[in-house]
This record gives sequence, C-alpha cells and structure tokens, in this order.
Amino acid sequence: MSQVSALYPGSFDPPTNGHLDLIERGAKIFEELVVGVLRNSEKNPMFSVAERLEMLKTLTGHLKNVRIEAFDGLMVEYAKSIEATCVLRGIRAVSDYEYELQMALMNRKLEPKLETVFMMPADKYSYVSSRLVREVAQAGGPVRGLVPEVVEQKLREKLDPAYKLHEGNEVPAFREKRRKKKA
Ligand code: PNS
Repeated sequence: MSQVSALYPGSFDPPTNGHLDLIERGAKIFEELVVGVLRNSEKNPMFSVAERLEMLKTLTGHLKNVRIEAFDGLMVEYAKSIEATCVLRGIRAVSDYEYELQMALMNRKLEPKLETVFMMPADKYSYVSSRLVREVAQAGGPVRGLVPEVVEQKLREKLDPAYKLHEGNEVPAFREKRRKKKA
C-alpha cells in the first residue's frame, strides 16, 4: 500500500480522538493521506469548514504525508481529482457496518476503480462520535479524553462566549500559532 494515495472523507464536526487515531493509522500505511472535509454536510454545523480545517491542520502537523482539504459534491469525483485510488473509512462497531457498506457499494457503482478500505480505531474510542461529543458538550458535560485538547478548547470557546483566552488556559499548539501570527 506504500504507493497508494488515499482519501479519508468525513464531516469532522468536530474532529474526535477516534478520527485522529484513524488518520495516524492511515498515514502509516498509505504513501499520502488526504483528509477531505465535506462542505455543507449538515445545515447547521457546529463548526464552520474553516474552523474544522484549522483544527485538523493543527492536529496533523506532525504527519508529513497527511494533507487537509475541503471538498464539495460527489466524493468519488473529488477522489479522482486528487488522484486518490483508495477511500479510508473507520468502522467502530457492527452498527456502523450497514451504513458504511451501503456507502462503499454506492461509491463502487459510481467509480469502480476506487477501493474503500476500512480500519478500526483503538477500542477505547469505539463509542466516540462527533454527534455524541456535540451533544455532551452542549449539555455542559465533560469531553476530555474524547477529543484532542485543541478541540476541547474550541468547544469551550464556542459554547461559552464569555470564555476568554489567556495564556494560562490556552493549549500550547494554539499559543504557538498565535505567537507566530503576531510575529
Ligand atoms: O463523517 P460522515 O458524516 O459519516 O461522512 C460522510 C461522507 C462525507 C463521507 C459522505 O456523506 C460523502 O461522501 N458525501 C459526499 C457526497 C457523496 O459522494 N455522496 C454519496 C455517498 S455514497
């Protein structure tokens, strides 16, 4: 698989530890991995596409063969345009299987040359989904350990407009970015 370029498409609203786990696994087996964020996947997303791209870029900065992009329209067309020959998707539990199978077979019908490859995230993330993270965070519950620190901070800022950034509670990756912007 070392010569294969793969696309990992999704909504990533927001990116979770499960997503990151899958990206890291994918980066190890594919020559190049493009994480494709679908625009307009939901009418009322919690995070804008720009925010999701920024979070994913911060989270994957250490992975040199990973690229973060946004896409519109049919996933198979986008995969073709970036010359990806594989689609990477995660399966957490049997309950994911039916939807993923349906999608993989539809995508195969649309583009027979594009293969879908499934990988399992670490079992400790098998119950983590963006939807549940949003639900827990919106109800004021803790999401530590379910999402990376940078995402946890973004959720806090989004859900509590009074939350003010200051050096003390800013995660290092954002602090560094802000310093660079200022310089
Ligand atoms: O993370 P998600 O929301 O489960 O990802 C779903 C996604 C973005 C992979 C899927 O909805 C998709 O590929 N949408 C693009 C439009 C498309 O190609 N639809 C046909 C899928 S069979």
